[in-house]
Amino acid sequence: MDFKGKDIISIKDFSKKEINYILNYGKTMVPYAKGEKYTDILKGKVLSSLFFEPSTRTRLSFESAMNRLGGRIVGFADPTATSQKKGESLADTVRMADSYSDVIVVRHPHEGAARLAAEFADVPVLNAGDGAGRHPTQCLLDLFTILMEKKRIGKNKIVLLGDLKYGRTVHSLAYALSLYGTELTFVSPESLKMPKEVVQECRGFGVEPISTSNLEKAVKDADVLYVTRIQRERFPDAEEYNRVVGTYKVDVDLMKYVKKDLIVMHPLPRVTEIDPEVDKTPHALYFKQAFNGVPVRMALLSLVMGERL
Ligand code: NCD
Repeated sequence: MDFKGKDIISIKDFSKKEINYILNYGKTMVPYAKGEKYTDILKGKVLSSLFFEPSTRTRLSFESAMNRLGGRIVGFADPTATSQKKGESLADTVRMADSYSDVIVVRHPHEGAARLAAEFADVPVLNAGDGAGRHPTQCLLDLFTILMEKKRIGKNKIVLLGDLKYGRTVHSLAYALSLYGTELTFVSPESLKMPKEVVQECRGFGVEPISTSNLEKAVKDADVLYVTRIQRERFPDAEEYNRVVGTYKVDVDLMKYVKKDLIVMHPLPRVTEIDPEVDKTPHALYFKQAFNGVPVRMALLSLVMGERL
């Protein structure tokens, strides 16, 4: 399988076979991601890290991944310190990064920005989240986490909870899980339901997601509970945000209803939707999930650069 030079814009660009291949290769990267083994397959390569939106995990795990492979990073985490502030277009910023580096990682508040960036760059462009659109590398690390914990992706009952309207991670994940025939339940406030377009994508794979507002009932026989933050920054109206924030809370009381081996995942950052008390329970998988971003992004960088371990 050849990924050299490939852009990673949406999980929809990948077949199940390709996803399985990436996840498998990600397993090989784990000891390197932990610093137990050493490699410099990307020595001499430079990554441009263009973050037009706040990020902790995605940016740092990409940087860690590039460093662990022996490569180097240029970039910014605050676009107000760049010529964007002077009115430069995204296209021109990307053209520059293209000439300064061998791969570009871009996060942007506008849906479609990563696809646009890919049009202006010859080097591979990796979408690190475009507005309420998609987040393919997060999706791959989410699938990786489910695979590592459950030893399979299909044949699981998975609940996606929270802001399903604006949450880009759940848009990518609902598509990918449907590709594997996973049973899906969507739990959200009425105004933050999964977009119709994503539901249609699930149906395209023969999956009929159940939509409900009853979390206790939904988690009862679930294998995975995937929690998301209400995406405050995407709300056109602060009053609407205040109305829905705090609708759902995952706490130790809720854990009384669940199967012993239920795993709770969250792309993070969490705000109030998971009580920190849950961290101490064996259900809490979100910090391990965040670590998994490193081996999975190492696998992706290695593959698109055409330098195999
Ligand atoms: C998510 C994102 O940016 O979409 N975070 C992440 O990448 N790990 C989720 C969020 O911001 O709520």
